[in-house]
Order: sequence, then structure tokens, then C-alpha cells
Amino acid sequence: METEELLTQGAEARVYIGKFNDEKCIIKERFTKKYRHPDLDTQITKQRIKAENSAITRCLAAGVLAPKVLQVNYNSKKIYMQYFEKAITCKEFIKKIVSSESTAEAETKLSDLCASVGIVLSKIHSNNIIHGDLTTSNILVNPKVEDFCDYELILIDFGLSQYSTSPEDKGVDLYVLERALLSTHSQQPKLFESILSSYQKQMQDSQAVISRFQEVRRRGRKRNMVG
Ligand SMILES: Nc1ncnc2c1ncn2[C@@H]1O[C@H](COP(=O)(O)OP(=O)(O)O)[C@@H](O)[C@H]1O
Ligand SMILES: [Mg+2]
Repeated sequence: METEELLTQGAEARVYIGKFNDEKCIIKERFTKKYRHPDLDTQITKQRIKAENSAITRCLAAGVLAPKVLQVNYNSKKIYMQYFEKAITCKEFIKKIVSSESTAEAETKLSDLCASVGIVLSKIHSNNIIHGDLTTSNILVNPKVEDFCDYELILIDFGLSQYSTSPEDKGVDLYVLERALLSTHSQQPKLFESILSSYQKQMQDSQAVISRFQEVRRRGRKRNMVG
């Protein structure tokens, strides 16, 4: 029996550090939601695992970094994947920058980070991959050198992802990220603007997506006012 170390417990899954062929790996285990009918629960879980697996495959094919899937087991509801041992979440990275750098240095580092995030998002959307849950906890920052002066971004947590060519779906993806940034990084209100500007620069035909995004945002505002 191999020992597994619990890393996080989310709303739908537990993430462990385990072993696969003697190498450390991530094991993401989805658990049963008791309030769901068992058949529906099995179906939803299978759908999430499948979505995660296929989005990762698409990302890797598109040159976007994501954890390689090592094994999928629908019965135990587990997915085994590559573990980025030195990586931290983008959320932690932003907090680290803000707390440890001078204002000017922090601005530069945040602006570099946002430019990179915009590039990654334009790549997935150009390849019709909709992430479905874009937050700074679902983007990993993997250092290429010890002190994070150089790093690469890795996308994770694709359970809600889908393949879609629709500008509306891409616009919603961006809106989900905007909302997440505003609530998680309320002291850094410019992050999204900076990501979006890089996204637009990088992506061909981004106009349709941007106008749908603005429409989704307007609908969101209206809904908030009505309550
Ligand atoms: N491949 C990985 N390498 C390193 N850390 C990971 C990896 N996958 C997940 N994590 C860590 O576990 C957390 C939860 O994983 P995630 O797939 O986002 O599950 P959840 O659906 O619970 O949010 C991430 O925010 C990250 O800190
Ligand atoms: Mg997550």
C-alpha cells in the first residue's frame, strides 16, 4: 500500500501526492456528492474526468503546458497526472510579488505575469479550448530557476472544460476570470485589464470574443442590480 499525502480538498475532489511507477504524481480523486442521485453522480463524475483528460490532451497538442495524464480510472474516480513539485499557484505568486517587492518592481513583475497569462489564454481559445473555471488557483507558476525570475505557466483543473468555437463561450471564460480576480485580488484591480490587453494583442480575430465578453459583463451587472 503506497502512502498518499493529501494536498487539497475541494468541493468536488481531493488532490493527493502519490506514486505512479515509482515517480511522484498527483492523484485527483472525485468524490460522491450525496445529494445527487447515484446514477447522475456517476455520470457527472465520468463527464468531469473525461473533460479533464481531453482538454489536457488538446492543450499539450496546442503547445500549452498542462500536467500529462498518466492514468484514468473511472471506477475509483481517480486521475493520475504529472506533479509539478516546485510550482506554486498563480494566486500565491501574485501575493508573494505584492508582499516582497518594491512597488515599482511589483508592477513590472505583475505586468509580465499578466502578459504571459494573456498569451496562454489566447492560445487555448484559438484552439477552441474553453477552460470553464479560470481562477488564479487553476494556473500554476513553475520556476525555471530557483527564485522564480524565469518561469512557465501551467494550466490545471479542466473538469468543467469543453471544446467550443463559440465566441460567447470564450467570452464567458474571460468573464469568469475577471470575477475571480476581482474577488481574490481586490487590492490589484488592474490585473484583468492587463491580461485582456495581452490576450487581444496575441489573438487573431479577438474582436468577436471581446464584444461577447462585454455583453456578458453587462448582463452580469444588470443581474447584480436586480439582485
Ligand atoms: N499537477 C499538479 N502539480 C502541482 N500541484 C497541483 C497539480 N494539480 C493540482 N495541484 C494543486 O492542487 C490544487 C487543487 O487542484 P485542482 O485540480 O485545481 O482541484 P480542485 O478542483 O479541487 O480545485 C491546485 O490549486 C494546486 O495547488
Ligand atoms: Mg482548482
